[in-house]
Amino acid sequence: MAKKFLSNSPILSNNSTSHIRVAKPSSEFYSVFSKAEVLEIIHALETRWEIPLKYAYKGQGAKIWHEFYQKFVSPKWYRKSSVEIDLLRNNFAYIYSNIQKCEQVNVIDVGAGNSYPAKDFVAKLNQLNKINKYIALDISEGLLTVSRKNFTTWFPKIDYINQQMDIENSCIPANFSGNPKIILHLGVTMGNHHNRNQVLKNFRNSMDENDFLIFTNEIGSNSQWDGIARGGCKYHAKEIYRSIKNSIGLKSQDCQLVRKYDLATDSVVANIKFLHNYNIDFSFQGIDKSIEISKGKEITIWRHHKYEMPKLIQELEGAGLELVHYTTNKYSSHIMAICQVANN
Ligand SMILES: C[S@@+](CC[C@H](N)C(=O)[O-])C[C@H]1O[C@@H](n2cnc3c(N)ncnc32)[C@H](O)[C@@H]1O
Repeated sequence: MAKKFLSNSPILSNNSTSHIRVAKPSSEFYSVFSKAEVLEIIHALETRWEIPLKYAYKGQGAKIWHEFYQKFVSPKWYRKSSVEIDLLRNNFAYIYSNIQKCEQVNVIDVGAGNSYPAKDFVAKLNQLNKINKYIALDISEGLLTVSRKNFTTWFPKIDYINQQMDIENSCIPANFSGNPKIILHLGVTMGNHHNRNQVLKNFRNSMDENDFLIFTNEIGSNSQWDGIARGGCKYHAKEIYRSIKNSIGLKSQDCQLVRKYDLATDSVVANIKFLHNYNIDFSFQGIDKSIEISKGKEITIWRHHKYEMPKLIQELEGAGLELVHYTTNKYSSHIMAICQVANN
């Protein structure tokens, strides 16, 4: 007699001792992602057991990031500034000395989030009448809404544009050229990308001779991680884990959150470890795919790669970029890297 398959309930496989549970992503999950994005998630699961972190900022993920930022990153009475804001402030003189000769610049904030880290920087450029437009680009429509609301409140007179885009898959749209560009990529986002080389190449291919790419990242050795989760690795990863369990339909008792050093990517990662055999069944706009995940398997949902300086310079050179200036914070844990198109 044929077995009746019930979703989200234990079903017996051929081996009667091993149960396979079926998870079906919710309708809300499918409302957040395009068909191409669902296909990329499936591909990442099949080829490297990962749900790319960039997708964790979409849908409910926008609220998760915004709340994490407000609670743990934004300046408070007991925490007057943030690493990003301090680094931008400390590098302002260098940046300004290089744009003095041009009339006005476009600030293009890629992965803008809520735009908060760029606020003081934009205010200074504005006082000096050096800013033409502020352009927020982000994979997350929800965060672009937050960015617009914030920025237009702070700077009602500065021209503001935003656009959804994925810097891992495309360059900065050409229509934002014209004035020299200051491209910001803040919040140590560089170290979160799966394909940093492609991101750097996309930045390089978006830049002209007088443009600057300014990004922050953690520096140091990933493998020397002390095993203690802090900041995004602790709080953001925990919320992403909760959200993925809900949207994909995993039972809490069937999985756990594991953080560790991953040799293959030389990164600290947060993984969902499966305590049961599972099938994740994707069914959307003609996509009909079941991913089998066996008990004990882990799926990466968060990652961060720290740079060691020689490796950073090597990756930049490989993408046709030159590190023209950098500073670190007082603990030497974070770098602000300022890059231009390489001469050769
Ligand atoms: C770690 S947050 C940093 C936000 C902000 N720059 C800050 O410093 O607070 C990463 C931001 O980059 C966006 N993001 C992540 N991957 C992206 C990608 N591939 N393309 C465009 N935006 C991306 C996220 O939606 C989020 O707004």
